[in-house]
Amino acid sequence: EFSCSSPGPVVVGLAADSGCGKTTFMKRLTSVFGGAPKADHNHQNPDSNTLITDTTTVICLDDYHLLDRKERKEKGVTALHPRANNFDLMFEQIEALKHGFPIEKPIYNHATGLLDPPELIHPPKILVLEGLHPLYDSRVRDLLDFSIYLDISNEVKFSWKIQRDMAERGHSLESVRASIKARKSDFDAYIEPQKQYASVVMEVLPTQLIPDDTERKVLRVRLIMKESGVKNFQPIYIFDEGSTISWVPCGRKLTCSYPGIKFFCGPEAYFENEVTVLEMDGEFDKLEELVYVEGHLCNVSTKFYGEVTQQMLKNCDFEGSNNGTGFFQTLIALKIRDLYEQVAMSNGVGDGVGVGSLASTK
Ligand code: ADP
Ligand code: G6P
Repeated sequence: EFSCSSPGPVVVGLAADSGCGKTTFMKRLTSVFGGAPKADHNHQNPDSNTLITDTTTVICLDDYHLLDRKERKEKGVTALHPRANNFDLMFEQIEALKHGFPIEKPIYNHATGLLDPPELIHPPKILVLEGLHPLYDSRVRDLLDFSIYLDISNEVKFSWKIQRDMAERGHSLESVRASIKARKSDFDAYIEPQKQYASVVMEVLPTQLIPDDTERKVLRVRLIMKESGVKNFQPIYIFDEGSTISWVPCGRKLTCSYPGIKFFCGPEAYFENEVTVLEMDGEFDKLEELVYVEGHLCNVSTKFYGEVTQQMLKNCDFEGSNNGTGFFQTLIALKIRDLYEQVAMSNGVGDGVGVGSLASTK
């Protein structure tokens, strides 16, 4: 049991299979919050998976692996299986951080597959838990202020994995296929069910604008946002809340080459929840013209007109900058900043330190 007066961090969960774009997402998120990565932490702990900036600490939940690589192999257990992970320790340590106490967190060494000596982690303003299971254990789930599930469809996951594992890591097509297949049943059983609990789900699907597309370059991205039950969060919509809107903005104000861009927005049901879905299919030709789209969105949690576009331009070399993945990641980052500021305000630390340092993105 803890008793502590200083309010702890806002805690955000980011759940996805590996190779689904969590790293890029984290870069967009920390870029919105401001503050450069602190180099000295990684200097002292070269194999650390933790990303620390002035405002934010991103913990990789692989660090709570209970079984190392060799033990997983011997026991025939994948990293996706709950048995391979220490949820008791995860809960204990995230709860401690949430109450303002430092922790000694284990490090899973991705190079050796072994568990290294722990690293000291201090409570940040914003704590992000990224990994396979941030929403699996109900005790950990209850500590989260906001959560995201990245739902990459099998078609797209396969093409991303091929791109990375074949081009960058020298694997064969067959071995990529086999590794996806080997993980599939545990993925279905332990990872995917988490999406019902997420505040927002980002679905990445093949485009519907190109008939029988097999290239998987053009993407259809859906942002599924809970209507209620998420404190300090309201969904983004187009034009008129609750209406169903289909919008093809290409033409005079937005340059689109084949196959164009199509937006959709409207209420839907997702598991047991009422949600608002914002959808974008297609790609931007000129990123600076995104401001035209941004101007038609409501509830975007920007601090000035054009902030989404400015963020996108600032990070234009990141993966997915010309499509809905980058666009929606940026929208979510701004939502989390807004949520943080509301929590900080109600905790009475809304002046100076808390809000001020997040507000300045430079
Ligand atoms: P994770 O951190 O979840 O393991 P990464 O962020 O490293 O995943 O992404 C894995 C790979 O997926 C990248 O190397 C890239 O090839 C591809 N990828 C990720 N996000 C996108 C995106 N938005 N658009 C296209 N490809 C992407
Ligand atoms: C990490 C990743 C998993 C991946 C594992 C490799 O834990 O998060 O997605 O499967 O490393 O496991 P392996 O048993 O192949 O070393």
